[in-house]
Amino acid sequence: MKSIKKICCVGAGYVGGPTMAVIAQKNPHIQITVVDINQERINAWNDTDLRKLPVYEPGLDLIVAEARGRNLFFDTNVDKAIDEADLIFISVNTPTKTYGKGKGMAADLKYIELCARQIARVAKTNKIVVEKSTLPVRTAQAIKRILDQTGNGVEFQILSNPEFLAEGTAIADLMNPDRVLIGGAETVEGQEAIEALASIYAAWVPQERILRTNVWSSELSKLTANAFLAQRVSSINAISELCEVSGADVSEVSRAIGTDSRIGSKFLKASVGFGGSCFQKDILNLVYIAKSYGLDAVADYWEQVIIMNDHQKHRFAEKIVTTLFNTVNDKKIAFLGWAFKKDTNDTRESAAIYVANELMEEEAQIHVYDPKVTHLQMLSDLDYLATRTPEKNKKHLTTHTDPYTALEAAHGIAILTEWDEFKEYDWQRIYDNMQKPAFIFDGRDILDHQALENIGFEVYTIGKGN
Ligand code: UDX
Ligand code: ADP
Repeated sequence: MKSIKKICCVGAGYVGGPTMAVIAQKNPHIQITVVDINQERINAWNDTDLRKLPVYEPGLDLIVAEARGRNLFFDTNVDKAIDEADLIFISVNTPTKTYGKGKGMAADLKYIELCARQIARVAKTNKIVVEKSTLPVRTAQAIKRILDQTGNGVEFQILSNPEFLAEGTAIADLMNPDRVLIGGAETVEGQEAIEALASIYAAWVPQERILRTNVWSSELSKLTANAFLAQRVSSINAISELCEVSGADVSEVSRAIGTDSRIGSKFLKASVGFGGSCFQKDILNLVYIAKSYGLDAVADYWEQVIIMNDHQKHRFAEKIVTTLFNTVNDKKIAFLGWAFKKDTNDTRESAAIYVANELMEEEAQIHVYDPKVTHLQMLSDLDYLATRTPEKNKKHLTTHTDPYTALEAAHGIAILTEWDEFKEYDWQRIYDNMQKPAFIFDGRDILDHQALENIGFEVYTIGKGN
């Protein structure tokens, strides 16, 4: 088996960047070049000021500092990196289609296909091509067909090696993964390619955690894992609404059922709704695939997880409006948090976007403080929804770099992300400077509600009878 000396990763995003940084740190003898067509992103990855890295992940800066310039490089010369590499990771984005057949459901494989065509054009020697991006089942076959068209005698082995890291904990997840999954062809060459990739992970991952499967199982496992996790969140969120009307407390219910070892305690935190680049997209992929095989009952079953999530976001926005005397017209509503979870600057599919959009439809003025998300990003998230014009979005969104100014004179405060720093604020001072009655809508159940009520706040918490 040929050992891997050079790796190229196409796509320097939330997956490619942190994953390659850790692989480079653990394999100093392998040269890794991460390439991207986005010059600005590559510049940011190369910035000497580590606070300017394009991806915020706790611990990432130190690893980049150690490996960058040694065996980890960031570049825009995609062709050169592909040409030199023995193994190529494809980590380009695969958003949900916003047009044509499968609109709003199927994955847009445009970037994947472009990437495959580029590899086919450039490659002069045999290569292992690894799908890292989340993809619908049987994408590997499509990639293979494109690659096999080169006609210049180059042989490609396609592997599926889905990413299981969660944002905000990416470095810890990469350092100590529950498992690494590698799917490959059931041929001698396929098995050799699997072992070549496995040897890279074996630098720090115990062998028994490196699972080998066929390509389709690997691809489908990624979608299934995310669908199961999202389903847990939607299940507890469904119960949260029942708790609110019945007087039960969803955090007590979570604790009670989580101690059942068959259920387990993780992913049972009720929230304003799950976000992130994977959950919704992967379930939609699953639904689309099931439908395309004519499996309507299977498709409907999984689609319900998304329907529940949309409902949760909607009812949170609605709760704000009804509580504020059925009108938020021209009222200042302050948001704490915009990212889809804490410890990341990623906002894809964040509940905050949908809640803000709905309140803006009611003519509210939204003032946001998030420790890591920029004003431009928030505007682009709202514009991407395309339910309102960019001019209208601009008029209703104000961003603050100081939480206290964001909250000053607000009619209500909504907690959208569970950033730890929110718990440390001077809530008495905030109360004193707000419109009365002063409302807090805790969509993440992170604050000390008794203490807030003692100050004078009226508190609504997701999943608690009020
Ligand atoms: C997820 C998977 O966890 C990861 O394995 C996969 O590789 C990519 O997708 P990520 O989207 O980064 O990772 O974040 P995750 O921690 O799974 O959270 C997703 C969403 O669910 C967040 O909005 C989070 O706030 C929400 N969530 C999670 C809840 O509302 N309640 C919970 O109990 C857990
Ligand atoms: P993920 O969360 O999957 O990592 P991102 O959107 O953060 O998604 O990252 C994907 C990256 O892939 C983007 O920076 C994008 O510019 C890059 N990309 C997309 N297509 C190509 C391509 N053909 N060549 C190089 N980079 C690409």
